Amino acid sequence: MPDVTIAEAVDLLRRGEVVALPTETVYGLAADATNPAAVAKIYAAKGRPDFNPLISHIADYAQLAGLALADSRAKALADAFWPGALTLVLPRAAACPVAEAVSAGLPSLAIRLPAHPIAREILRLVGRPVAAPSANRSGHVSPSTAAHVRHSLGPAIPVVDGGPCPVGLESTVIGLTGSQALLLRPGGIPAEAIEAVLGAPLGRPQSAKLESPGMLLKHYAPSRPVRLDATTAHGNEGLLSFGPALPGFAAYFSLSDTGDLTEAAAKLYAGLHALDRADLDGIAVMPIPEEGIGAAILDRLRRAARGR
Ligand code: TXA
Ligand code: MG
Repeated sequence: MPDVTIAEAVDLLRRGEVVALPTETVYGLAADATNPAAVAKIYAAKGRPDFNPLISHIADYAQLAGLALADSRAKALADAFWPGALTLVLPRAAACPVAEAVSAGLPSLAIRLPAHPIAREILRLVGRPVAAPSANRSGHVSPSTAAHVRHSLGPAIPVVDGGPCPVGLESTVIGLTGSQALLLRPGGIPAEAIEAVLGAPLGRPQSAKLESPGMLLKHYAPSRPVRLDATTAHGNEGLLSFGPALPGFAAYFSLSDTGDLTEAAAKLYAGLHALDRADLDGIAVMPIPEEGIGAAILDRLRRAARGR
């Protein structure tokens, strides 16, 4: 299937089809969140287990009211970070029209108001919440370009090509269903910035099974081994460098020559895709500081390293 336009994507979504579209974080595989048959097509196309819930994307803050219950914490975080790389998990509203399968049977709904102009235009024209997980096969490396989407999901999925995603890592997922706000997934907005708005530390989920089902799964895994904190060359590996590159590797991809974490986040998935090559034995990654968005980069790399 060739690329589709914004108007074609809107038409496909309104007719219950899936479309891959760019957001500022990663490409999403979108479907009408209120249409159970359309949502089922997302799970099928990704090979995603049905216990792992999806994020509903909205066009503006007003759209949240009929879907979920926002308390003062949710309002403060939405004010500070929407549109943007933040997902809020909130109690579902009584008459929430979003398909049960989007919540995977949980009494909560994950909601995000994305910043990417193409995503926003599509959401505005569709006029309904749009479910969209990252547009990759379940467990594989997430897509930050349209070519990554085609490589992972095959040529049958229509794609709106908006170029590379500027943030490059998925949204930060915050759970607001209990008295303490929980960091369910580190992501594009650093946890420190969220804690500063809340004026309180974020908790970690006690039971990943109930609170953040997606984090139980293998994730972000290239088909070759990933080795972290590399300080010397080993065998026939490719190197993901951060700052000046180490010598002696068989292939190179620079996340950031200057050691800039924002640049490294934007290039991370392109680097994992580029070095996941049959002629290499694995991917080595230079040390990356666990601060700001570095925490989310390391979260993804640790999952990639153990997830095969
Ligand atoms: O940046 C992003 O968030 C991208 C773009 C496309 O918006 N989407 C994305 O979706 O990363 P996905 O499906 O790959 O990750 C959604 C995460 C999963 O870890 C899932 O388990 C969690 O959000 N999640 C969704 N609904 C939830 C809920 N009701 N309770 C707890 N966790 C939930
Ligand atoms: Mg994903």
